[in-house]
Amino acid sequence: MKAYDEPLSNDSTNPTFHEIAACVMEKRRALLKGAVGSALLALFAPWTNAATARGTAAALPGAPQRVSNTSTLLAPFGPSIPTHSEDRVTVMPGFKIRAILPWGDPLTHPNAHFKPDGSNTAAEQAQQIGDNHDGMHLFPFPGKSDEGLLALNHEYTNLEYLYPADFLPQATLSEEKANKAIAAHGVSIIHLRRGPNSWDKVPESRYHRRITGATPCALTGPAAGHPLLQTQDDPSGRLVLGTLNNCAHGVTPWGTYLTCEENFNGYFGNGNPNDPMHKRYGIANGFGYRWHEAIPRFDVARTPNEPNRFGWVVEIDPFDPESTPKKRTALGRFKHENAAVTLAKDGRVVVYMGDDERFEYLYKFVSRKPFDPTNPEANRDLLDDGDLFVAEFTSNDTGNGRLLGRWHLLSRANPKIASDPRFPTDAEVLIFTRAAADVAGATKMDRPEWIAIHPTSGEVFVTLTNNSKRQADAVDAANPRAPNFWGQIVRWQEAGNDAAATEFAWDFFVIAGNPEVYPETDPRAGSINVTRENMFNSPDGLAFDRMGRLWIQTDGNYSNRGEFAGQGNNQMLVADPNTGEIRRFLVGPSGCEITGITFSPDGRTMFINIQHPGEAEGHPRAPGFPAEMLNTVLNQQPTLFSDWPHSQFPEITGGRPRSATLVIEREDGAPIFGAA
Ligand code: FEO
Ligand code: CA
Ligand code: CA
Repeated sequence: MKAYDEPLSNDSTNPTFHEIAACVMEKRRALLKGAVGSALLALFAPWTNAATARGTAAALPGAPQRVSNTSTLLAPFGPSIPTHSEDRVTVMPGFKIRAILPWGDPLTHPNAHFKPDGSNTAAEQAQQIGDNHDGMHLFPFPGKSDEGLLALNHEYTNLEYLYPADFLPQATLSEEKANKAIAAHGVSIIHLRRGPNSWDKVPESRYHRRITGATPCALTGPAAGHPLLQTQDDPSGRLVLGTLNNCAHGVTPWGTYLTCEENFNGYFGNGNPNDPMHKRYGIANGFGYRWHEAIPRFDVARTPNEPNRFGWVVEIDPFDPESTPKKRTALGRFKHENAAVTLAKDGRVVVYMGDDERFEYLYKFVSRKPFDPTNPEANRDLLDDGDLFVAEFTSNDTGNGRLLGRWHLLSRANPKIASDPRFPTDAEVLIFTRAAADVAGATKMDRPEWIAIHPTSGEVFVTLTNNSKRQADAVDAANPRAPNFWGQIVRWQEAGNDAAATEFAWDFFVIAGNPEVYPETDPRAGSINVTRENMFNSPDGLAFDRMGRLWIQTDGNYSNRGEFAGQGNNQMLVADPNTGEIRRFLVGPSGCEITGITFSPDGRTMFINIQHPGEAEGHPRAPGFPAEMLNTVLNQQPTLFSDWPHSQFPEITGGRPRSATLVIEREDGAPIFGAA
């Protein structure tokens, strides 16, 4: 989902990431002028040393061919493919693709067919695949490579796609229309099987399930039952209807799925402008969904605590269709992007999480008890008890070529929080996590999106997608990355390589930019592993395959003009984290975002998602939405921008753009993504 143009909500005085990054960028510029030694070279990325050691000084921006052919990890892949602005997916030669599971396909009832004019009812939508596919994970059946359960997030809805042409002029939103949108959110659990041609859903399975914005979910953990979570309909403060804005995801070692509630504030109307926590979380007048007109729980004036019951990480057991999703309050409340799970050295569970809004923070949770692979029952509620931390990125050199980071505890055990009257108990810290992080000394980041953990080194990578709207940043004039149109990927290693550590060492993996528009000596050209052939903007989805390759997915500006000239539609790239090499692997159709990534157990198949094909830049109701595009949307001509997947896969019904899952395999069937 693109950034809704909300007023900035973080007015704390914490330093911005830009202020810290400025020092690093300054050093890069010095490097480009040939004025620094190997120590600073290493600061930018260890792989630049390797490039320089080969005597390839030309392996700086503008000479990408000098960087290629260095990576054995990328040996199965060809060179970067060209970008484009067409309404189709292109992929590297040697790979084949097929679209499956489009929005509106029948799931839990075989007759709930998609109607291309938007006339499906709310009840039908609740039996169909939801909209705007985002994070997902394939859980294989034990011992099977060709069959499993795909847990698939549905982040939001495009109103101009969801409703028939007569919707927008309506004076009032009906409850039926609100319920249709609510039913398009949440998660699908899909029983998938590899057939003779490709993967697809099993026609009827007891595992097919829709969890929607109306499915009962439990609130668990330290904040459950707190008066701030109680409503008239739920005096217990422990039972919420639904999960919303399900962005990306996580997977636990005990085989459950985590779905992350991101821009939940956009569904609520009539926020109180004088309530500091409404302001801090952007609870105001919503993003144009208008559900509050029809359903009282989305009207904050009538149900003030309902927004507090969203913004959580939700744990789902995909193998138990009767199970109740659990909102794990111990992981804090903010605009959760994804939840990257690993284990500390002593077996405690660590969950890394980003809060995707401009100038928000990076977090991690460390469980109280360790994971016990021999005792599944003991792991069931590990995410209900532990410590939450927020990250500070300093500019202090650690002495090994990276900079120092710190994790600050978010609980009353932290004196800065204990002395703040807004946090009488740790429950308030978890419900108003952003405010607690403000006082703990966190670093304001450029919109943290996905976090991914290297499968063997344990290094943690995060996409900071962009921060292009902020003009008056707290950045000194020397910082060329403000505004930051293109984003960057930061990585860190925890002290002692222990995920539970309270300090870490960080640097950049890549600083995206545009070397076609800017000269190589300009930081806006990006770091040396950004070339005219692979350039991109707004990294978002991020995952390692089992071979240790880093896959980067973008959700950015696809205008192909100005700062983004030559970058085309949103795309997916494959990178070698050791050499720094990045190659463009796939380009999506018009107006889409590329997101979601999971693999078959045999390493033969990669699944990704094409989200919101045809979506005009920005949100239709956001300030700054281009007038000519808004008119098009209001006139109900969504296919003007895209009719994907129908435009490329005619067997899938068209009539309006449909988010869908893409199956990607080598034409020769080689298991290049790494077997489980
Ligand atoms: Fe749902 Fe920040 O992406
Ligand atoms: Ca995202
Ligand atoms: Ca994004």
